[in-house]
Amino acid sequence: MHGAVRAMLEETRERTLLLVSTMSDEDLARQHDPLMGPIVWDLAHIAHFEELWLTRNLDGPIRFVEMPGMFNPMENPRSERGELPLPRLEQCVALMAGIREQVLARLRRVDLDRGPQLAREGFVYHLVNQHEAQHNETMLQTMQLKQGAPYQPPARRPHPESSPPPPTDRGRMVVFAGGEVTLGTDDRSGVYDNERPRHRRSLAPFAIDAYPVTNAEYAGFIEADGYRRPEFWSVAGQEWLAESGASAPAYWERRHDGWWSRVMDREGPVAPDHPVCHVCFHEAEAFARYTGKRLPTEAEWEVAATWDPATGTARRFPWGDESATPDLANVDQLSFGTAPVGAYAGNVSPLGCYGMIGDVWEWTASNFVGYPGFEAYPYPEYSETSFGAEYQVLRGGSWATRPSAIRGTFRNWDYPIRRQIFSGFRCAQDG
Ligand code: AVJ
Ligand code: FE
Repeated sequence: MHGAVRAMLEETRERTLLLVSTMSDEDLARQHDPLMGPIVWDLAHIAHFEELWLTRNLDGPIRFVEMPGMFNPMENPRSERGELPLPRLEQCVALMAGIREQVLARLRRVDLDRGPQLAREGFVYHLVNQHEAQHNETMLQTMQLKQGAPYQPPARRPHPESSPPPPTDRGRMVVFAGGEVTLGTDDRSGVYDNERPRHRRSLAPFAIDAYPVTNAEYAGFIEADGYRRPEFWSVAGQEWLAESGASAPAYWERRHDGWWSRVMDREGPVAPDHPVCHVCFHEAEAFARYTGKRLPTEAEWEVAATWDPATGTARRFPWGDESATPDLANVDQLSFGTAPVGAYAGNVSPLGCYGMIGDVWEWTASNFVGYPGFEAYPYPEYSETSFGAEYQVLRGGSWATRPSAIRGTFRNWDYPIRRQIFSGFRCAQDG
């Protein structure tokens, strides 16, 4: 298992460095937007987080919430990170390599079966690896927000040749007849505390869209004057509308010949059959009301993605227990964008929902709260301190999510006004 842990850490690091390889020192150090800190902050933070968990905390009591000083996210809000005396890329790379050397030396001596609790079944190594992978996605949000010349992707993986579902099928919903289901997981080797414990729930019947909402459908909402009809918007949504002045998803622009959008360095007409991306929770909720539907709860989302009514059990993924790959779903970043809905023919759940993993994170109607029996582990600042009504849960991962940081039980969360994230949605209704 030591070899697998080492290979995992090295593969993730290779990706981190690949992503920054096309950016100048200056652009890596720059605060491109108040929403996101400079990318060098992410790099040094990744290194210090790894040092904290894979050297210091492995051998004694956990002393720090995340880490002290400049790279503690709690002490340094994203909007202010540009003013810190941050290291340059070269220093970050040296820091990362130096810490990694110590980590691998310690790994050689660690007993993953009977050693420190944190290391059992490789848990803390998986935690640190996922943390780096999650920061890779954050870095891509920053790259999309980049000032000056657009970010140049270092590589590009094509989507499969797709045959999009016939238009009649696009609005199709699938039905869950209601009843007892299991949600979450008891895994202790690689998942976050907020996904535990596995628990039973009784769910009322519901219907949910077989596909995520597409750009064409969303453009229909705009054409129907959706942004100017208060009946579709919650009070908080109306406040956000007034404050932001938004009238379309982020990165959309109206030209004489229709809607255009930009994804990194690619600019062009909005692809009608792709899932809509870069909408906030309020926009998703307003669209749902416009169609007479609502957003799914996260319990409904998880059932639609993982529940197999034939066996009465939940799968890890819509297609089974095998981890996500870029062949199964639009994940792992290098496609650098969404794919037509239905393009990944195997990305379908037992209930018949397509594209629940990858492409776009899907907003849910649920706040981020602990499951019954939740226990913070190994530090409350990962999940527990974010529980409450402030945050909305997103599920399923996006094209920018690495396979190590997504599964059917994975819970992401953000403020309902955020849309620099790779976020879309699908709708549901009572059954
Ligand atoms: C799960 C995306 C909300 O960015 O705050 C990164 C992930 N936690 N480092 C965040 C995270 C610590 C987290 N989100
Ligand atoms: Fe972090």
